[in-house]
Amino acid sequence: MKKNYFIISILALMFLALPLSLYAMEYQHKLEVKNMEFSWTIENDQIHVMLKAKTSGWVSIGFDPEKAMLGANIIIGMVKDGKFTIEDHYGVRKRGHKSDKDLDGNNDVLNPSGFEENGVTTISFTFPLNTDDKYDKPINPEGTSLVMLAYGAGKDSFKTRHPYRTIYEINYSTGEYKKIK
Ligand code: HEM
Repeated sequence: MKKNYFIISILALMFLALPLSLYAMEYQHKLEVKNMEFSWTIENDQIHVMLKAKTSGWVSIGFDPEKAMLGANIIIGMVKDGKFTIEDHYGVRKRGHKSDKDLDGNNDVLNPSGFEENGVTTISFTFPLNTDDKYDKPINPEGTSLVMLAYGAGKDSFKTRHPYRTIYEINYSTGEYKKIK
């Protein structure tokens, strides 16, 4: 009898672990900050990204900022009336960003996708580690790089400010990270 319980327990555990492992396999690494998640996978010369935040406004990531937001390759997305918009921006000032397209560059975001559910906005996209655009920057998968994470509030507009923003130092290959700000 005891043996039967043991076997049933093992089978139940395997059954529970399977969907969990499938979920975890989707992205190689995850960074959880306040009300926000950044998941990513480096694959060949691309990075696959998922951003999730407790907001009905925008969610964003900024690769390699120089001074506050200045010089960062910013990807920003939102979902309005069930339709997602994801744009490739550049930190043109310490406190401001503009779309690469408006700056005479390109939108280099690939496979954009997004949805909003129960007050949580999720976007996903792929980005080349190297583009020819002067308003992007090479993403170095080795060593450490700075990354900004932020989300907006309420209104579906890229112009609203962030109730939350943070800066981390990340090694995209190993998944190690350290909070900077
Ligand atoms: C229209 C949109 C935005 C406005 C008006 C704005 C404005 C500002 C302002 C005034 C500050 C300085 C005050 C503070 O530290 O909170 C700041 C800092 C910051 N912003 Fe934004 N921001 C915008 C979008 C973004 C986006 C899309 C990101 C990308 C992830 C971002 C990331 C950050 C970070 C990380 C800081 C802190 C920088 C530091 O202290 O070194 N911001 N922003």
